[in-house]
Amino acid sequence: MKRIGVLGTGAVGTVLSDGFLRHGYEVTRGSREPAKLADWLAKAGSRARTGTFAEAAHAAEIVVLAVKGTAAEAVLDLAGADALAGKVVIDTTNPIAAVPPVNGVLRYFTSLEESLMERLQRRVQAARFVKAFSCVGNMVMVNPTLAGGPPTMFICGNDAAAKEDVRQILGQFGWETEDLGAVEAARAIEPLCILWCIPGFLTNRWEHALKLLR
Ligand SMILES: NC(=O)c1ccc[n+]([C@@H]2O[C@H](COP(=O)([O-])OP(=O)(O)OC[C@H]3O[C@@H](n4cnc5c(N)ncnc54)[C@H](OP(=O)(O)O)[C@@H]3O)[C@@H](O)[C@H]2O)c1
Repeated sequence: MKRIGVLGTGAVGTVLSDGFLRHGYEVTRGSREPAKLADWLAKAGSRARTGTFAEAAHAAEIVVLAVKGTAAEAVLDLAGADALAGKVVIDTTNPIAAVPPVNGVLRYFTSLEESLMERLQRRVQAARFVKAFSCVGNMVMVNPTLAGGPPTMFICGNDAAAKEDVRQILGQFGWETEDLGAVEAARAIEPLCILWCIPGFLTNRWEHALKLLR
């Protein structure tokens, strides 16, 4: 059984924590204010815990980073580089700027020359970051049942073994995995969230995902 530390109290943190628990993992969720997770903890069962970002990172073998993009670097600092060193960090974050979308098109605080995950990997060099779950909405993150069959999760990162761990989790969660290479590929994967959101903003339907066909 693997111990997962989920940093984040938003929808992604909740959906992925519940998914990991359903698949038999232990989950510790982290927050600046762990008390806000009391209702979730009361229903989550005996393999669930809560704590600070640092406690959740310490408790984990695999860490999931599911916090606001603008706060992601600060949350790594709160978790602590020592607690993250050597661990797989599944990076779900997107660099969404604190400004409204334009005609359904989100705006980012990064550029096409530098992704958020590259900043995170530089900030904690000893952690093994893998971009995953960033290009799809939380409502279809765990075992999606879409008419078009299993969708594709685009991942990247510098550590092959870390990506293999994430590929296995994605398989359990009902995804095909497309490995796009090293951390720089996050410059392409992070903007897929902009693409994924547009049909949602335009039609108010959010149950879709991306698939790579050959
Ligand atoms: N929502 C989706 O469907 C979706 C899909 C794909 C990817 N994503 C990405 O996944 C990430 C999480 O999204 P979300 O919608 O679940 O939640 P969110 O509202 O973007 O983030 C909530 C988390 O951010 C932390 N946070 C916010 N401001 C902070 C600050 N100043 N300092 C430290 N921590 C701060 C909060 O910490 P506390 O618990 O301490 O308040 C909380 O845990 C985002 O980067 C988002 O772009 C979201």
